[in-house]
Amino acid sequence: MARSAPRYVCTACGATHPKWAGRCDACGAWNTLEEEGARAGPGKAPSAGRAIALSTLDAEEAPAPRAASGIAELDRVLGGGLVPASAVLLAGDPGIGKSTLLLQAAARFAAGGLSTVYISGEEAAAQVRMRAKRLGLADAPVRLGAETALSDILATLEAERPGLAIIDSIQTMWTDAADSAPGSVGQVRAVAHQLTAFAKRRGTAIILVGHVTKEGQIAGPRVVEHMVDTVLHFEGERGHQFRILRGVKNRFGATDEIGVFEMTGSGLAEIGNPSELFLSERGQPAPGSVVFAGIEGSRPLLVELQALVAPTPQAQPRRTVVGWDGGRLAMILAVLEARCGIPFAGLDVYLNVAGGLKISEPAADLAVAAALLSAREGTPLAPETVVFGEISLSGALRPVSQTENRLKEARKLGFTSAILSEGGKSAPTGGLTLTRMGQLADLADETFGAG
Ligand code: TYD
Ligand code: MG
Repeated sequence: MARSAPRYVCTACGATHPKWAGRCDACGAWNTLEEEGARAGPGKAPSAGRAIALSTLDAEEAPAPRAASGIAELDRVLGGGLVPASAVLLAGDPGIGKSTLLLQAAARFAAGGLSTVYISGEEAAAQVRMRAKRLGLADAPVRLGAETALSDILATLEAERPGLAIIDSIQTMWTDAADSAPGSVGQVRAVAHQLTAFAKRRGTAIILVGHVTKEGQIAGPRVVEHMVDTVLHFEGERGHQFRILRGVKNRFGATDEIGVFEMTGSGLAEIGNPSELFLSERGQPAPGSVVFAGIEGSRPLLVELQALVAPTPQAQPRRTVVGWDGGRLAMILAVLEARCGIPFAGLDVYLNVAGGLKISEPAADLAVAAALLSAREGTPLAPETVVFGEISLSGALRPVSQTENRLKEARKLGFTSAILSEGGKSAPTGGLTLTRMGQLADLADETFGAG
């Protein structure tokens, strides 16, 4: 049945509700429901369709040539370059460096022969030019426009037919196809819809910038995620210069790749060897500090985990995590207590991934457990040791993927030994001393004499 009543859309998660409520049932956010215009009127007979030509799955088609920017950290996350006619969303906190990254990318794409248009709805053309000058990109053949009216932008793109159009940002654009205010869900959705349709129709690759706001006051780019081919998140911690570009959706490539950048006085610099960067602040071996040999996408990445365990008079001790999952920490504390007999009651626990990186691999479990035990016992781990392995609820250690790559990276950076789980494929040690363990209790007993 066609809908004529208004419906309400959550600006934080995009869920729709038939009735207004103070709180979104889907994501739990408060005051985020906004009315959206009624859908097509009732009672109209559907128009007669015409038969479309169907084809087989094995039709010969050359893969679309991708355009590479030459910024390796960006191209890898895109899956090997930008696909023509694709729509990409670059989402991130305000001020994280999205405009800087895209201006640098625009200059490189344009210099590589891809005709590139950059439309800024946030800054005046003079401001963008000033930034380009500061970045040393003033002579790049990027065509620049400052505009927020989508109809004018589409008319311009229709006339120019560029290979790439960058729209900075989606929240500043407005179209009369929706009657709500710029930045509202209805507008963001309508603008994204028209731009992605243009991309498919004309073969122009489109990159949309979207600000994420915690408050959900402005429509989050969540509603756009379903419409685009690729979603990239640009992340960083306040007080750190590192920026991580993370692929979270990609119709044309893997999604677990990351690109690492550093924000410098002259723009974003690529970090080709992130392990060196994330370990650069490591001092003398200290209790609670453990190096985890991780994998991000296709690349090994060594990071330092730091734990602090301190007695507390509070009945509810603190569990504070930065850069890792709090629920996973609770699980490991429970396994240490239940399977190894090492209680953390009456102890505050702090866990930090150094350098502002966020890790989500279960392979970090064993490294986290080692950091917690080392902090609790006040004993540093043997120097130049990396740790990795997954912990199951039974206290058994599970092997993880890409053992060889992890060990190789460790050796390359001067590590001499590794603690890992038993089983899995045997990998050449390359001179590293390997300690393979089957149970978490082995780590507690053998390495720290605890339990
Ligand atoms: P910007 O790209 O404007 O962020 P976004 O588009 O995501 O809102 O970057 C803003 C920050 O980056 C600003 O605080 C200044 C800093 N910055 C540098 O440190 N170096 C530079 O060369 C540039 C251009 C910006
Ligand atoms: Mg910006």
